[in-house]
Amino acid sequence: EEEERQQMREALNLASQLYHHVLIHTEYGTAAREYLKQREVSSDTIEEFQLGFAPPSYQFLLQILKRRGFQEELLEKAGLIATRDSPSQKKYFDRFRGRIMFPIHDSQGRIIGFGGRIIGEGQPKYLNSPETPFFHKGNHLFNLHRARNQIRKEQQAIVFEGYMDAITAWQSGIRNVIATLGTSFTDDQARVVKRNASTVVICYDADSAGQSAALRGLEILSNHDCTVKVAQMPIGMDPDDYIRRHGGTAFKEEIVAASLSLTAFKLESLKKDYNLRDEDERMKYLAKAIDVISGLPLAIEQDHYMRRLAEEFQLSLEAIKEEQRKRRSRKR
Ligand code: CTP
Ligand code: MN
Ligand code: MN
Ligand code: MN
Ligand code: MN
Repeated sequence: EEEERQQMREALNLASQLYHHVLIHTEYGTAAREYLKQREVSSDTIEEFQLGFAPPSYQFLLQILKRRGFQEELLEKAGLIATRDSPSQKKYFDRFRGRIMFPIHDSQGRIIGFGGRIIGEGQPKYLNSPETPFFHKGNHLFNLHRARNQIRKEQQAIVFEGYMDAITAWQSGIRNVIATLGTSFTDDQARVVKRNASTVVICYDADSAGQSAALRGLEILSNHDCTVKVAQMPIGMDPDDYIRRHGGTAFKEEIVAASLSLTAFKLESLKKDYNLRDEDERMKYLAKAIDVISGLPLAIEQDHYMRRLAEEFQLSLEAIKEEQRKRRSRKR
């Protein structure tokens, strides 16, 4: 049992080394190297993250690892090899083919799986390791083992959606960065983050999938007693795009520094449902906004957001508080 786990770890490490070697030193890696260059990923970054390339072969990894004495069943269990049942026999083949490989580590820095990106367009864009004895998608955070010290030092973690967001941020010198693996935050991930930082800044893509995942993440992290903030990306950009265009300093000063609290983010998201130039709709928005604020646990928090709302919409604080009283008594 323990020996099997050890062998699986060895296979994962070897796979990572082989993929990396193919990317750096072989003809097969040319297109992938070009692609990474075009995305401005430096050689140092390729080394740091041990990026690799899985050649477009069904037998590349399988052949080499079999020759090194690994059993097919074990490689399948480690998520490296897939199978198909043909009428006569079970057929084994490489799971990752023709993809740029991103090794994924656990919090102690051991490789537990991979994400693989297709070069250019194609479906699925990313293929990840399946669930294995080591790899549970909802438990892990990409880059945590590298970022942990900096996260502790700053008592702040910046959480992205994508591998490339974290890699580009790291390359630009921002080191308190991690990524969920394309899912929204889970309780397990929240617990891990909470152990390392008091504040979490969620920085997801500016599309609707990203924004609703951010909202779910906010709720989960708040339940774990984290101070959570949401950074807003300009429309159509993700953090990787932004940092490449404007640099890491701008990202920190313009995006992270301007991140919103949970309540402010909820109020901003709510605005998207109303045309605020229309007077009736504006009133409907205000009523809903007052409900959101009324749900806050602390009176001082409520007061703070009521004042902001009054200021933003050129209303008296008294009018807003009166409306809150009315809506409360109606609900009882
Ligand atoms: N993801 C995944 N499977 C997919 C698409 C996405 O697992 N088919 C995960 C990956 O971890 C990816 C993250 O979700 O990094 C965010 O997805 P997306 O924003 O679509 O990708 P980017 O990270 O922006 O990828 P790229 O910049 O390479 O296009
Ligand atoms: Mn190397
Ligand atoms: Mn996205
Ligand atoms: Mn993205
Ligand atoms: Mn991207």
